[in-house]
Amino acid sequence: KRCFYFDEIDSTNAFVMGHAAELASGDFCVAEYQSQGRGRRGRAWQSPYGHHLYTSLFWRSQLAPQQLMGLSLVVGCALVKVLQDFGVTELGLKWPNDIYLEGRKLAGVLVELGQNQTQGVELVIGIGLNMNMPATQGNQIDQPWSDLSHLDKSMSKTQLLIALHKQLTCDLREFEANGLASFIERWNQADLFMQKQVKLLMAPNEVHGVYHGIDNQGAVVLETEAGMKSFIGGEITLRS
Ligand code: BTN
Repeated sequence: KRCFYFDEIDSTNAFVMGHAAELASGDFCVAEYQSQGRGRRGRAWQSPYGHHLYTSLFWRSQLAPQQLMGLSLVVGCALVKVLQDFGVTELGLKWPNDIYLEGRKLAGVLVELGQNQTQGVELVIGIGLNMNMPATQGNQIDQPWSDLSHLDKSMSKTQLLIALHKQLTCDLREFEANGLASFIERWNQADLFMQKQVKLLMAPNEVHGVYHGIDNQGAVVLETEAGMKSFIGGEITLRS
């Protein structure tokens, strides 16, 4: 596998996407700084120099488009496993893409699809993980955040990256072979909203119910007034 390392780059996802034709599954990119880090929903991902982990993995796959929801869940499960192996506790997952530490967002995942689908789907799996948030940046983030710096765990960025690459490639292979079967329990154990009253926003609609985790398609299961129902999109928040 090849690692493309940059001191500075626009976005590691953009780099991998731009070079997809020359890359093989498992190749990845990592940078110290991103000038145009991308978040989900068209948002920017603040990426100050040297402070955090910014990485993107390339994967060419025969997965069908409807299996991609499951893929982002697999990435979340892989991140949780790696951090647990380093002794981090108090981790949580928020469907479909966020990793939390002590109830605040620690890492985000952005999966993008390449244009050329002739040899299977080209997947770019981008991960941004807060390692040591500088005070000046922390003030500018519009949601509660967390980082690893206060944990008294001595893993380096390189150690984290190597472990993550290994876990992720292993979990992606398992997902391609057997689907989500072995991930449902892993996900649900870490899911922050299990058994809670939630609302699911799918503009213009809003659904209320008790949260029951994910099903074998990666959809969210809510117990609504009309019974158990699965949903594949939308944003979930706790009902206060
Ligand atoms: C989110 O909005 O939660 C997802 C954030 C994903 C950020 C990572 S950082 C490495 C990779 N390159 C990018 O431009 N974005 C992802």
